[in-house]
Amino acid sequence: MTNFISLADVSDLDALIQSGRAAKANPFADQHLGKNKTIGLIFFNSSLRTRLSTQKAAQNLGMNVMVMNVGQDSWGLEMEEGVLMNGDKAEHVREAAAVIGRYCDVIGIRAFAELQDREKDYREQVMHQFAKYAKVPIVNLESATRHPLQSLADCITIDEAKTKPRPKVVLTWLPHFKPLPQAVANSFSEWMGARAQAGEVDFVMTHPKGYELAPEFVGNTPVIYDREEAFAGADFIYGKNWSSYSQYGQVLTQDPSWAVGMEDLALTDSGKFMHCLPVRRNLKVSDAVLDSPQSLVVEQAANREWSAQAVLKEILLSL
Ligand code: CP
Repeated sequence: MTNFISLADVSDLDALIQSGRAAKANPFADQHLGKNKTIGLIFFNSSLRTRLSTQKAAQNLGMNVMVMNVGQDSWGLEMEEGVLMNGDKAEHVREAAAVIGRYCDVIGIRAFAELQDREKDYREQVMHQFAKYAKVPIVNLESATRHPLQSLADCITIDEAKTKPRPKVVLTWLPHFKPLPQAVANSFSEWMGARAQAGEVDFVMTHPKGYELAPEFVGNTPVIYDREEAFAGADFIYGKNWSSYSQYGQVLTQDPSWAVGMEDLALTDSGKFMHCLPVRRNLKVSDAVLDSPQSLVVEQAANREWSAQAVLKEILLSL
């Protein structure tokens, strides 16, 4: 694996899931792999889980870790080519990525969608500019359109918690007053679509009309607009808010009936609730659900360490 930007960089998804589970069982088995190797974690946006779990995973593999918050710890970075840099960004990504690439063997980047210009966000400019100029492997720590380390942790969590060979997994939209990116939902849909194609899960999604994800992320996944119909017999309910793709970045509804409560879990087959976190309690999902034994949210976040470790191990083996 040279980069980990999307599912397309994964040659064997099942093997990667099992590698994450093996790391969880024996965290320090590969400590020799990262000796004298350095990872730089570059954040354009806030993070709790991604920042700490990726640091921990790298340390488990014996790597040195450097973390930088762009614009706070560093200069603001210009991404556009050929522009007159007379604004608030003091450094161009051409130099910044090239320099960071000289200090680091692997670079992780977090850069969210700005939700102003769909074409620009979906071009994934920051990820691709770093990959082009850093000349070392790039790990996506959540980009404008994808969050693959989260999706891998979600696959590990479902693999561990399933009680039948082909569980039913439902992605459901949740209400929120702020426009949020589509990255987690896109990525979960992409990865679960692959798991469904491999016969590992049955996967459907449900959301209000107007919240259809980009066609390349929906693929063959059935969209069921009636949420109660979608939840029937489910083994996993994966909740997430996202803003509209078609009316880009807009909040079209805040309908509170889309929040998940215990009455929704009652429609499932003792289904588990999943969310990538952070989550706003009682806005998107009730206290009762989050505090019930059916909630997997903390285990899911814990598995971020093992998803990062599986990915970094593959990258270290390729150096
Ligand atoms: N789920 C997730 O990526 O959490 P953070 O934004 O806190 O990193």
